Amino acid sequence: MQHHERRTYQEENGINTGLLAQAMAAGLFADRRVSVPPEAQTSFFGRSFISVDQIQSSNEVNQLFEMADVMAKVTESNGVYRPLVGYGVTELFYEASTRTSLSFEAAAKRLGAKVHVRDGMGMFSSVTKGESLQDTIHAACQTTGNDLIVLRHKEDRSSEVAAKIAARYGVPIINAGSGSLEHPTQALLDLYTIKRLVGRTERLKVMMVGDLLYGRTIKSLAKLLAIMDPQVELVFASPQELAAPADFVEDISSRVGSVEETDEFLSALPEADVVYWTRVQKERFPLGQEELYDRVKDQFIFRREHIELMKEHSILMHPLPRVNEIDYAVDKDPHGAYFRQMRSGLYIRMALMHEILLGHQIVA
Ligand code: NCD
Repeated sequence: MQHHERRTYQEENGINTGLLAQAMAAGLFADRRVSVPPEAQTSFFGRSFISVDQIQSSNEVNQLFEMADVMAKVTESNGVYRPLVGYGVTELFYEASTRTSLSFEAAAKRLGAKVHVRDGMGMFSSVTKGESLQDTIHAACQTTGNDLIVLRHKEDRSSEVAAKIAARYGVPIINAGSGSLEHPTQALLDLYTIKRLVGRTERLKVMMVGDLLYGRTIKSLAKLLAIMDPQVELVFASPQELAAPADFVEDISSRVGSVEETDEFLSALPEADVVYWTRVQKERFPLGQEELYDRVKDQFIFRREHIELMKEHSILMHPLPRVNEIDYAVDKDPHGAYFRQMRSGLYIRMALMHEILLGHQIVA
């Protein structure tokens, strides 16, 4: 009976071309994308996320955090929220990654998207045949038909270059770490960790320690802290050879309450609300500087006895991976936030993909 009615409908509409007609009747051609009303279109919606500099106000960050709170709650209550069913996400990683790649993949899958992960791009992709990043982005868009690309690359401007090409397909790019200057999703998850564990994102004294020359996480986080509170106090502690680049220090100094540069970390430890440790970025040292690396790599190590110097409600963060710069004996101390910090990555990346593809709304 039903079969008969459907044929009648098709005949009436002049559709009687076999499979196409069946597919149409089955609803296969209905647009799978969720409609996003103007009021749900926040500053992240439909746009690539390349740099912390795109963020205009603390409001935008707080909205994202509101969404991250929902993601945290869904995950922690073992709930299910899969608004990205029918969407696809592609991960292209040209540099090594464990947690960033895994958390983007987990985040997209938890939201219901299908995910294609290509790590080892520098080793196993057509890059080894000489393909440019631009052409690889064409390939990623054409071959998958996916809706979003997550990119990690060693060049500072890689995400911008990629975003220009991907825009032709209406596909936003998320920068998952580019060169030694930007790691904007790490900054968001770091700030979210600070909010959850310290309880605020203003009136903070933040000490950043280690490789401030090549480390990208501290640069993105410093800029984000400045957006949240132009009075934030920053301390940059590093061996002299790994001091933050002068142009960066000059720029950030004009946006925050104070910047202090030092080559030791003990003095500021008792005053800091957040102590942000980093790894010496061996892979970013120019060729021929192995001797310098060996000299600086173990200069700044956080050990158990340093915990005693920290403020009671302060936290010790690290974007990870750790090599040798935080003693394993510190891991169990409640000041240590670096393992919990990784969980923030899941929630922030779920929230960010949601804001970009579906906006600031709950999709019922
Ligand atoms: C950081 C990075 O890639 O910049 N890692 C990360 O994404 N959590 C820090 C590092 O590699 O030292």
